[in-house]
Amino acid sequence: MKKGKILTFKKLRHPEISNIRIFQSSEHASLAAAQFISDIIRHNPTAAITYATGETMIPVYSALAKMVGHGEVDFSKTKAFHLDEYHPCNPDSPHSFARYIRERVFEALGISEENRFLMNGLAKNPKTEASRYNFLLKKEKIDLAILGIGPGSHIGFNEKGTPFDKETHLANLSQETIDRDRIERGQNTPEHAITQGISNILSAKKILLLGYGSKKGSYLGAALTGSITPDIPASALRLVGDKVSVFIDNEAARSLDGVFS
Ligand code: GLP
Repeated sequence: MKKGKILTFKKLRHPEISNIRIFQSSEHASLAAAQFISDIIRHNPTAAITYATGETMIPVYSALAKMVGHGEVDFSKTKAFHLDEYHPCNPDSPHSFARYIRERVFEALGISEENRFLMNGLAKNPKTEASRYNFLLKKEKIDLAILGIGPGSHIGFNEKGTPFDKETHLANLSQETIDRDRIERGQNTPEHAITQGISNILSAKKILLLGYGSKKGSYLGAALTGSITPDIPASALRLVGDKVSVFIDNEAARSLDGVFS
């Protein structure tokens, strides 16, 4: 995408989240997300960023890789963290999030070796690994957390009922998440994961959440309306809504129809 290209969007008025943009397609939303992320790095070349994994992010990271290739943005001084990783999970397995981050972020965007921070999905003691990662996150002020949304409106692998003050921890995945993952990501995805906690996510300076399609629209609808409660993990974002941006496509927006007007 050419530098400065304007992607049109409609704004959704919401009482707590300051920036909800609706794009005509997921492609447009992904390009706008890449622009949003690269603008942050142009202003702050040493930014620390938390990267989500999953299908939603693939076109975003590809668009960023193209920008890097065209010399439009430089990630080499940025620090890269990830949001979550299955446990136990070999970092070379096809569903490893560490592998995804290695290939689509570290290598594709040219993050320097010393600025790459991965969770170890094979750690003998995952709780100790979660504490180690939490310590790294607390030493660093995260400038941007990039998020997707999943079953039960989870963010990272913070499942229904996770207290909002929870830091990086070993999570038991819900049956809904396990079923989704085994259908979409392979038969052997684990039942546990190390995840940044909601408290880590909320302490980022900015948060960008992406969700496309009707299923994500329904998770978002639950999170953006009604109670702010640990039973709907993404509803926690409304507590810090002035630093949250949500980019969605028309299809996800249709699931929110009539909710805000
Ligand atoms: C998960 C992961 C998240 C990810 C989300 C969306 O459950 N824990 O890190 O952001 O799914 O994934 P997808 O974009 O594949 O739907």
